[in-house]
Amino acid sequence: MGLGAGGPSRLGALSGCTKEASCRVVHAALDLGINLFDTSESYGTEALLGSALREARREDIVICTKLHGGIDGRAKNLREVEATLDESLMQLGTDYVDVYMMHAIGARRYDAIAVPLLPSLQKMKDKGKIRAIGITECFGVDCGHNMLQRALVDDAYDVMMVGFNLLNTSARETVLDRAREQEVGVLDMFAVRKALRDVSTLRDYLHACLSSDEFVSDGAKFVDTIQSALVEGVCESLTEMAYRYCLFTPGIDCVLTGTGSEAHLRANAAAVEKGALPLRLVEAITACSAGWYDLTAQ
Ligand SMILES: NC(=O)c1ccc[n+]([C@@H]2O[C@H](COP(=O)([O-])OP(=O)(O)OC[C@H]3O[C@@H](n4cnc5c(N)ncnc54)[C@H](OP(=O)(O)O)[C@@H]3O)[C@@H](O)[C@H]2O)c1
Repeated sequence: MGLGAGGPSRLGALSGCTKEASCRVVHAALDLGINLFDTSESYGTEALLGSALREARREDIVICTKLHGGIDGRAKNLREVEATLDESLMQLGTDYVDVYMMHAIGARRYDAIAVPLLPSLQKMKDKGKIRAIGITECFGVDCGHNMLQRALVDDAYDVMMVGFNLLNTSARETVLDRAREQEVGVLDMFAVRKALRDVSTLRDYLHACLSSDEFVSDGAKFVDTIQSALVEGVCESLTEMAYRYCLFTPGIDCVLTGTGSEAHLRANAAAVEKGALPLRLVEAITACSAGWYDLTAQ
């Protein structure tokens, strides 16, 4: 499990946490043995993360950050990429980033933005300013992973960040096997997000997204499958189920949790310590949600 400094929480910055409270979340992560941290030039959390991580030994942690690759509809050139990276390094208080990713590349922008950025990122790698080149998708609008499927054809990435959760398992068929064949490290985002925080939120979300017929035939069955597993005590919460489901899916190397709450972080770390969900529950969930490739958890 890695700690994400973006999403709806941004380490608590979006929910009114003080800087000290956000730093405590990062310190709690380190205490729990979490050593991968994800941020972006656009989250406004690089400096916060950098200062919170100052007490860690640099070689013991993995820092991931991202750049917005486009400017005025074209890809940033080498000078612009290096300037963006140098600013991130300064904010983070480090002289290298472990994983540097092109942020939220849409399928239609891939050829115009991502492809021309690759040589610049390779130069940054050659200079030792980054250790791995990555790319993240725009899951909210590209929920069938078209961009990542296109990127896999280029076989030029060390890391990919994919949206994968109980509601949308389509990456299993379209991204994960191929990424493993190419030895691409896969980070998972959107494991919980908003819809999977608790059962009643999930039920409301499915009500809103599905037609009433679909809700009666599929949505209610999905919620019942989850509810029954909770009543049986297989998991203590839907969030536990969500993170365990994602992390133990073959092909997912790291699930990100985005939180500004130390209590949530501790619960999430304890959840994944429990290991994989029972196979029968995984199969039941996968069967129920299999038809929802276009249903993302916003
Ligand atoms: N395209 C991209 O590159 C991209 C897009 C999205 C995200 N990301 C990265 O992925 C990371 C993960 O993002 P995500 O939003 O997908 O994270 P997530 O972990 O799926 O969802 C985070 C949300 O879940 C809540 N939550 C977490 N643990 C909880 C618990 N135990 N009980 C109840 N609520 C809980 C958090 O609220 P609390 O703060 O209250 O815990 C937050 O609102 C981000 O931080 C970011 O680094 C990248």
